[in-house]
Amino acid sequence: MKMVLNLLAKLPGIAAFIYRLKYKNGELIESDSKLDLGGNFAHMMGIKKPYDDVARMYFILHSDHESGNVSAHTGHLVASALSDLYYSISAMTNGLAGPLHGLANQEVLAWIQGVYKQMDGKIPTEAEMRQFVWDTLKGGQVIPGFGHAVLRKTDPRYMAQREFCLKHLPNDPLFQYVDLLFKVVPPVLLEQGKAKNPWPNVDAQSGVIQWYYGLKEYDFYTVLFAVGRALGVVANIIWDRGLGYPIERPKSVTTAMLEAQAELKVNS
Ligand SMILES: CC(C)(COP(=O)(O)OP(=O)(O)OC[C@H]1O[C@@H](n2cnc3c(N)ncnc32)[C@H](O)[C@@H]1OP(=O)(O)O)[C@@H](O)C(=O)NCCC(=O)NCCS
Repeated sequence: MKMVLNLLAKLPGIAAFIYRLKYKNGELIESDSKLDLGGNFAHMMGIKKPYDDVARMYFILHSDHESGNVSAHTGHLVASALSDLYYSISAMTNGLAGPLHGLANQEVLAWIQGVYKQMDGKIPTEAEMRQFVWDTLKGGQVIPGFGHAVLRKTDPRYMAQREFCLKHLPNDPLFQYVDLLFKVVPPVLLEQGKAKNPWPNVDAQSGVIQWYYGLKEYDFYTVLFAVGRALGVVANIIWDRGLGYPIERPKSVTTAMLEAQAELKVNS
């Protein structure tokens, strides 16, 4: 328990340290112990209000939600070998860094920026945006920020951030791109007929909010994501230990077992 509290207390400071070291000439800002986790993070990042509220929303929305995703599952898996919490959260973060998972929030922004450049900053028409989406698909890429392994409707975390954008940055050009993608992408993915879920996920909205409040270094976004994700993953690891969960291992099967399965299929 002490290790969990230490880790959670230190993570925002570590993330802000990385940011200030990499992008702000190493000019660090002391933490302020009177502030809450989100408020202190905004303070150490050197970003003014209302970024403290953005940080609070971001960390809560990005905490683990159901344990089965790559990062949450990896954290749980590594902890199941009784590796300590620091190793488990470091493994979790490495899982998060894949483009089909957490890195998607950075990829969305890079992709939108690409469209933005091509359009010379002009908001595309629906037809132009549809064409960009098709070009991306035909180039063999996925549309970042859309689809989900489990959800079969618009991600509620997307909707929470969309409502925030409609309230605080409705005229921001990048938000207008995201808003347009919300209309254009699902019908295209349905027409393509591959994705089981054509609706947007959490990553389609988060980068735009960070960008608007001045956090434009999008290769930092996965670090940010990791701070939030850790909140849920460590809670689950505490339960794993409390309930005495065993080490996790996928089932092994022999060739004879596979042959028996294949026979069952052929005969059924
Ligand atoms: C999240 C994701 C990895 C889930 O993958 P999954 O469980 O395999 O999803 P599905 O079962 O719907 O995939 C079926 C097919 O649709 C494709 N597909 C799914 N989402 C797609 C998207 N956003 N753009 C294009 N194709 C997509 C898959 O690549 C797969 O194609 P294949 O049969 O040629 O391999 C996938 O939707 C994706 O790559 N999304 C974009 C990346 C992203 O936003 N990740 C963050 C998720 S929170």
